[in-house]
Amino acid sequence: MCGIVGYVGNKPVLDILLDGLEQLEYRGYDSSGIAVQCKDKINVYKAVGKLKALREELASHAYEISKSTVGIGHIRWATHGAPTVVNAHPHTCNCGKLVLVHNGIIENYKELKAKLEAEGCVFKSQTDTETVAHLVAQKYALTHDLTKAVALAVKEIEGAFALEIMHNDEPNKLVITKRNAPLVIGVAPDEYYAASDIPAFIKHTNKAIYLSDDQIATLTADSLEIIDKNGCKVEPKIELLPWEPVALSKMGYKHFMLKEIHEQPDVIRNILSDKLKSPEENVILDEVKLTKETLRNLNRIQVIACGTSLHAAMIGKYIIEDLCGIPVDVEASSEYIYRKTVTDAHTLVIGVSQSGETADTLTAIKQSKARGSHILIITNRPDSAMAREADSLLSVNAGIEVSVAATKSYIAQLTSFYLLALYMAEIKGTYPVSELTNFKHEMLMLPQKIEQILSNMENIRECARKYSATRDFIYIARGINYPTALEGALKLKEISYINATGYPAGELKHGPIAMLDESMPVLSILMKGAVYEKLLSNSEEAKARNARMIALTNSQDKKLDELFDYIIRVPDVAEYLSPIIAIVPLQLIAYYIAEFLGKDVDQPRNLAKSVTVE
Ligand code: G6P
Repeated sequence: MCGIVGYVGNKPVLDILLDGLEQLEYRGYDSSGIAVQCKDKINVYKAVGKLKALREELASHAYEISKSTVGIGHIRWATHGAPTVVNAHPHTCNCGKLVLVHNGIIENYKELKAKLEAEGCVFKSQTDTETVAHLVAQKYALTHDLTKAVALAVKEIEGAFALEIMHNDEPNKLVITKRNAPLVIGVAPDEYYAASDIPAFIKHTNKAIYLSDDQIATLTADSLEIIDKNGCKVEPKIELLPWEPVALSKMGYKHFMLKEIHEQPDVIRNILSDKLKSPEENVILDEVKLTKETLRNLNRIQVIACGTSLHAAMIGKYIIEDLCGIPVDVEASSEYIYRKTVTDAHTLVIGVSQSGETADTLTAIKQSKARGSHILIITNRPDSAMAREADSLLSVNAGIEVSVAATKSYIAQLTSFYLLALYMAEIKGTYPVSELTNFKHEMLMLPQKIEQILSNMENIRECARKYSATRDFIYIARGINYPTALEGALKLKEISYINATGYPAGELKHGPIAMLDESMPVLSILMKGAVYEKLLSNSEEAKARNARMIALTNSQDKKLDELFDYIIRVPDVAEYLSPIIAIVPLQLIAYYIAEFLGKDVDQPRNLAKSVTVE
C-alpha cells in the first residue's frame, strides 16, 4: 500500500505534492517520486528511502519545476519489486508521454504483462503498476482521449487500485479513478487536489468529493467531470469535512509514539465525557443502532480485525461474553475472507480498525454485509471506507495517530469495547445493575491511574535498559490479559525487531518451555484476579528453568520479590479493566528498548500504518 497525491490548479505544485506526501508517509516510506508538467513535457523525479531523499534529489531541479502547477506524487511501500529508483512511481509508458501513480495491487498483472510484452511494450520495472501505464497508453493510441483510454483500460484490470494519470498530449489535466482503494478529491476555487487521504490536502481545503469504485474523474484547474463505469455523467457530491488543519507536532517529545502514549489518559477522558456521564447513568452510543429486538435475534457475534486492532477485539470477546452472555468469535480478517464463514442475519459482525481502510477487514465486512449481518464498525476514522459500510458506528475519537506502532488508538478501542459491552448488557439486562454501576465507576478512574504510571516511568525505563540486549522476549499471561501479552510482544517486535512472543501461560509447558534458559527474559502479566495464583505457578515453572523473570503486577505480595528479578508495579485495578492499565508499561518497555537500540521508533522498517493490500 502506498500514498498518492495529485494537484491541478494555479499554484506552484512542488510544495503541494511534497507536503501532501509527507502527510501520507504513514502509508509507506521506502521510496517516493513525483511527475510534474514542465512547459512542454512531463518530468519525473524519484528517490529511494524516506521522503527526505526525494527532497534532496529535487533541490537541484527546483528552478525547472518552479513554474509547474500540475503534478502527481507517490510514496511507496513495496509489494512487487524491491524499493529501487526503477520500481518507484511514477511509471511511464514506452514513449514516456503517459505518466501515472498507483496505490493497490493489480492482480492480473502477469497475464497483462505477457500480452503487452508480446505487443511490443518494454518493461523497465518489476512492478504490477507498470502494466497499467502501458495498457492505458495502448488505449490512448486508439482513442486519443485520456479519459476514454482510462475507461477502456480499467475494464481489463483486476484487483485494487487508486490511479492518477497525466498525458503530455493533454497537458494540465489529471484523470483519476479507483476500485477498492481510497481516493478523495479536494475542491477549492480554480484548483483540485486528489489524494489517498484527507491530511494530504486539508490545509488547503475542507471540501471533498469521495470517489466511488469505478468512477473516473477528469480534472483541470477550472473543470471537474465524473463518469461512472458505463460512461454516464455523475453529479459530484461535495462534502464538508469535519477536519481541522492540524499541525502534527511532537510537542517536545522525542517521538510521536511517546507523545501518543502520554495522550492516553486524555483519550479515555474524551471518550467517556460523551458516552459515560456518570456511573449511575446508562451508556450513550448515539450511532449504535442495536435495539432490544436486534439483540434478541442475535445468536452470536463475530469480530474481525488485524494487528493491534485484533488484540483489542480479543479483549472485547472476554468482556462481551462475560457481561452479555453472547458467544463471540474473533478472527484475523485475512483468515476470515478465504473460507466459508457461517454468517447470517442472526450474527452481529464487528469490524475493528484504526484506519477504517485495512483491505482485509474491509473485504470481510463487505462479505458479511452481503450475507445480511448487522455491521458495527469500531474505528478512529468515521470518514473511512469501513465506516461507510456500517449499520452501526462506534467512533473511538483517539485523534490522529502518527506513530506506526498503535498505542492510543488501542486504548481507545479497548475503552469502546467496554462501553459497547455495557451498552448491550444494559439493553439486554444480563448483568446486575449494581455491578454495572461499579464497573462504570472503575472505568472513570482509569485516566488517573494511567497518569500515575506515566509520572513514574524511571523504573520502566531501567527495566528496558536492562533487557535491551536480548535477542528474544517472552510475555506470558492468562485470561483477559492473554491478548495484552500478544499486544506487548507485538509492540516490541514492531519497533525493536526483537523476536518477542506472547503465550497463554498455561501453554508454556506444552512446548515453549523448551526454549527457556538463563538468557531468556519472561515477562509475566500478573494482575490480581481469578487466574493470579495459576499464573504465579506458571511463573515458578519458568523460574525453575532459569529464565530471567520480570513481573508486571498490581499486587504488593512480598513473595514476588523472590520469584522475580525485576518488578514493575502498577496501580490497583479491577481484573476486567486491567488490560487498559497493563498495556501502558508494555508500550513504554517497547519504546525505550527501541530507543536504546537506536531504532527508527515512529517509522519502523518494513511496516506501514495503513495496509490497503490483501
Ligand atoms: C498495520 C499497522 C498496525 C495495525 C494494523 C491494522 O499493520 O502497522 O499498527 O494494527 O495495520 O490496522 P487497522 O487500521 O485496521 O487497525
